[in-house]
Amino acid sequence: TEDIYILALESSCDETAASVNKNGLEVLSNVVSSQVDLHKKFGGVVPEIASRKHLELLLPVIDQALEEAGIRFEDLDAVASTYGPGLVGGLLVTLTAAKTISFSLNIPLIGVNHIAGHIYANFIENPDIEKPLICLTISGGHTDLLYFENLRGYKILGRTLDDAAGEAFDKISRFLELGYPGGPAVEKAARSGDKTAIDFPRADLGDSYNFSFSGLKTSVMNYVNNEEQRGNEIDKNDLSASFQEAVVDSLASNIIKAVKEYDVKSVVLSGGVAANQRLREVISERIEKYNLDLYYPKLELCTDNAAMIGVAAYYQYLEHDFAPLSISADPALKL
Ligand code: KG4
Ligand code: ZN
Repeated sequence: TEDIYILALESSCDETAASVNKNGLEVLSNVVSSQVDLHKKFGGVVPEIASRKHLELLLPVIDQALEEAGIRFEDLDAVASTYGPGLVGGLLVTLTAAKTISFSLNIPLIGVNHIAGHIYANFIENPDIEKPLICLTISGGHTDLLYFENLRGYKILGRTLDDAAGEAFDKISRFLELGYPGGPAVEKAARSGDKTAIDFPRADLGDSYNFSFSGLKTSVMNYVNNEEQRGNEIDKNDLSASFQEAVVDSLASNIIKAVKEYDVKSVVLSGGVAANQRLREVISERIEKYNLDLYYPKLELCTDNAAMIGVAAYYQYLEHDFAPLSISADPALKL
């Protein structure tokens, strides 16, 4: 069978990225040009500045990706771009470039969901993860529990009904004035706290695999307000530890529920919240008796890059899941 070369492009936030993937999982090049320093002084990503910078950086980044891979435009079998979710100005930069390349080389255009890219990032380092598997993808924008029979497709078992897991960490951190991003700040405070100090509720969503974190957020706020009214000191470390335990418990419980129902071989975590040590520890402990392996990606594949888009694109290529030239960016695209 013939080798498939895909050029993948990503600029949905503040990284301008291009990669060449061979047969999906083989990453020949993965160039990422970060704008972090450019936006730092504003305390966040400024969309207008970001899209102008993407426009400036994209062509040199594509040239570099092709050169490092030793591939010419005419060797490509397809071109892929993220088309959502993300900042619309940024999405349009790579999408327009990908359309142009597709049209001029007469090769298929593949539109990739950014979240699917984050999930497929796991398999770059560990292509031989035993399947079927359960994947929990948790970040500032989403909380999804997925079942993979093989790498060609997944089934969504559950998702959050309100806040994403990372969003809950960020909101509690802001409320307790612990800093940004919230996840690492809450985790740090929790390390010096007692996780059994306060018994916060876990959302009971019956038989579903869904998640809900807004009730927990309200309980934390009510707890703090009540204690303050009574004139009591708040121990932020105990509070952080008890909150974190409640989030981790809900995430782990759904994984265990899925593991019992589906006959799986592995459990995979992805997204920023997967960096949480307590989460990894609790999940490892709780899946041990089921004889499963736990995986999480290394940090540079957790953050935005084009190689992960190229992997997702390859599986779409196999299904002939191509996009028309009329495809638009979808800033609020769901999985
Ligand atoms: O995947 P990511 O880098 O970006 C997207 O949201 O797409 O995830 C960022 C989220 C933030 O909400 C951040 O607070 C959370 O991941 N996070 C953590 C930890 N590190 C990052 N949450 C809990 N514990 C951590 N150690
Ligand atoms: Zn991302």
